Amino acid sequence: MAATARAIQQFTELSEEECDARIRAAKAALGERLVILGHHYQREEVYRHADYTGDSLKLSRMAASSNAEFIVFCGVHFMAEVADILSRPEQVSILPDLAAGCSMADMANLAKVERAWRELSEVLDPDEQVTPVTYINSAADLKAFCGRHGGIVCTSTNARHVLEWSFARRGKVLFFPDQHLGRNTGYRMGIPLDQMVVWDFNQPLGGLTVEQIRTAKMILWKGFCSVHQMFKPQHIDQFLARFPDAKVISHPECSFEVCEKSDYVGSTEYIINTVTESASGTRWLVGTELNLVQRLHERHQHQGKSVHFMSPTVCMCSTMFRVDPQHLLWTLENLVQGNVVNRIRVPEHEAREARLALERMFEVL
Ligand code: 13P
Ligand code: SF4
Repeated sequence: MAATARAIQQFTELSEEECDARIRAAKAALGERLVILGHHYQREEVYRHADYTGDSLKLSRMAASSNAEFIVFCGVHFMAEVADILSRPEQVSILPDLAAGCSMADMANLAKVERAWRELSEVLDPDEQVTPVTYINSAADLKAFCGRHGGIVCTSTNARHVLEWSFARRGKVLFFPDQHLGRNTGYRMGIPLDQMVVWDFNQPLGGLTVEQIRTAKMILWKGFCSVHQMFKPQHIDQFLARFPDAKVISHPECSFEVCEKSDYVGSTEYIINTVTESASGTRWLVGTELNLVQRLHERHQHQGKSVHFMSPTVCMCSTMFRVDPQHLLWTLENLVQGNVVNRIRVPEHEAREARLALERMFEVL
């Protein structure tokens, strides 16, 4: 790790122009052996080099269908893991900075989920009555857990269809790690709030009573996204007081109150498409990560659209931000020289079960 830091140090002194030119040269040298996938939250200096951009669902499909030898994922750790799980063994998945994790994904781990499953089995038979559903923002071993317990993965795009699939099989869902995506989706499907309980993973029996568990339809893990929790309903109220005709659009990782006050709720790709397809002159308030919102603003201001960020404070995904042009360049120039750096590898026994849960998701949508 210290050697890696020293190696990257030399790149940090490069000017943006030089970095940009060398990334282009390395891409040209690698040709079709390389594909760069870029999540919509990436900073512009990285995003512009992506061969494909998208939300988590679109990028996981890209990874599964790519023939490139090297899949360089400009995103966060769980995304590069999914690329490794879905690609062929001879393909290599790479994350330019290994510290680019997802703080929400880290709020659930296998030990805690297995403990929850054991504790639930004191009240009911989870393998008969509960479908485990993991948001794609989770470690590979949690996807594997879902694979072996008849569960499934979802993304912000397909959460509703995945929940319908789940309820068609078992009466209850254990949803992790994001309580908000679970609650927002469940509520829009008609599940009352009092039938969605929060599992506090630091408390025995999730801090719930036996009765609460018996009557719940959804058991929501007490996880959240540190970026999306910054958006508050009062930000929407204050904005609409100034611009009553504005439209509000939010990511489903935002709180229930924010989503209820929004005109539209959906994935990053959905947000981009909705704003892009709107009439010129429309004013938008957007509740998702800053880099995406800034890009939307820049791309659409010439059409007279104005795109505003929902929070008065700057909230970026600091882990996504770790993937900078310097790390991307370092990764690519190593590949040109025949060195694979920062490979993300999921052990095969784990990948097999995780693939099951991902394939169930692809069958749904
Ligand atoms: P999307 O799948 O909507 O891109 O969301 C990923 C994510 O991490 C949002 O915080
Ligand atoms: Fe994770 Fe939130 Fe960053 Fe998305 S925005 S990758 S959920 S920390």
